[in-house]
Amino acid sequence: MGANGQTSKRPAITGVYGYLPEYVLTNAELARLVDTSDAWITERTGIKERRILKGEGLGTSHMGAEAVRGLLERTGTPPAEVDLLICATTTPDFVFPSTANLIADMVGLGPVGSFDVQAACSGFIYAISIASQFIATGQCRKVVVVGADKMSAIIDYTDRATCVIFGDGAGAVLIEPSPNGEGIFDTVIRSDGAGMIHLHQKAGGSRLPPSAETVAKRLHYVHQEGAAVYKFAIAKMAEVAAEIMARNNLRADMIQWLVPHQANWRIIESTAEKMGLPMDRVMVTIQKYGNTTAATIPLCLWDYERRLKTGDRLILAAFGGGFTWGASYLTWAYDGAAAAQEHRRRLS
Ligand code: UT7
Repeated sequence: MGANGQTSKRPAITGVYGYLPEYVLTNAELARLVDTSDAWITERTGIKERRILKGEGLGTSHMGAEAVRGLLERTGTPPAEVDLLICATTTPDFVFPSTANLIADMVGLGPVGSFDVQAACSGFIYAISIASQFIATGQCRKVVVVGADKMSAIIDYTDRATCVIFGDGAGAVLIEPSPNGEGIFDTVIRSDGAGMIHLHQKAGGSRLPPSAETVAKRLHYVHQEGAAVYKFAIAKMAEVAAEIMARNNLRADMIQWLVPHQANWRIIESTAEKMGLPMDRVMVTIQKYGNTTAATIPLCLWDYERRLKTGDRLILAAFGGGFTWGASYLTWAYDGAAAAQEHRRRLS
């Protein structure tokens, strides 16, 4: 029984929507800003272009709200029926209030609970793990999880090692009690704070508050020791995917899709290889959106939705700053092609 006396329910993703800003930042444009080339970026990361949110006064909430509005419209969900909104982000509009608070207001949800989750690139997996508990206990019937990041706000466009990788975007999912027994079966979340030194933003928090000096020293940008992070990412994403497969008695041939965090094409390929999955069963969007941090996984689901069938088995896996990492095992709860067709029909 759940906290309010209801029977435990399997949570399921019942809709997905994505938002990407219009501006396309190409490798060619980056090669005019820093000493890099399309060939290096393509070969070392798989990225060809990424989206950047332009516009005075627009923060992560703008993209999150667009994704949530689209999700509610797409799933025919009245805003008043949403019980809880969770936003996974590393680039909140403000230190406080939370970006989830702002999105809820912009979209007209309410009365609603809302909060942010900060787990860097693993944020979406952390957030669906939390959302699942609210559904399973019966405390909530409709939870929106949005992964949104305006990475361009914290990227140093004079640092070629980081500026080529990241992009902006948002993706949202609706989580409800399963209509058919399909849904989220298991989630593993992990962290190791000792990894902080390899990937963090040095100033702007309570340890080193903003000052003229921190700005002059360019400490408000992403600091990433790429090779060290790469080593951990390669090991941990495969390890956590193997763990969740083992504890759910899954073999590679039973998995229809791996949905990996999109940090580097080589990390994605290595994870798939270690899991024994061919690349045609792996969702990849990195070539067009780059690394959008908490948004990569929901944006993959949005991009591939038409190809998802009821009962498809998916493994979600991520690794990121913190360090944090995690994986989810879920089965898809609806026919993606039919949902897309129905949406087109309603719009026409
Ligand atoms: O999503 C959160 C978690 N993040 C990740 O998972 C990212 C993990 N790391 C990576 O994906 C890779 O480490 C990067 C893509 C960031 C870098 O690729 P790499 O193959 O590991 O390069 P590196 O940092 O070891 O640098 C190799 C060389 C260096 O030159 P030297 O010292 O060998 O002369 C760099 O200065 O490549 C140079 N380099 C570049 N050259 C051209 C670094 N960035 C660039 C660039 N263009 N943009």
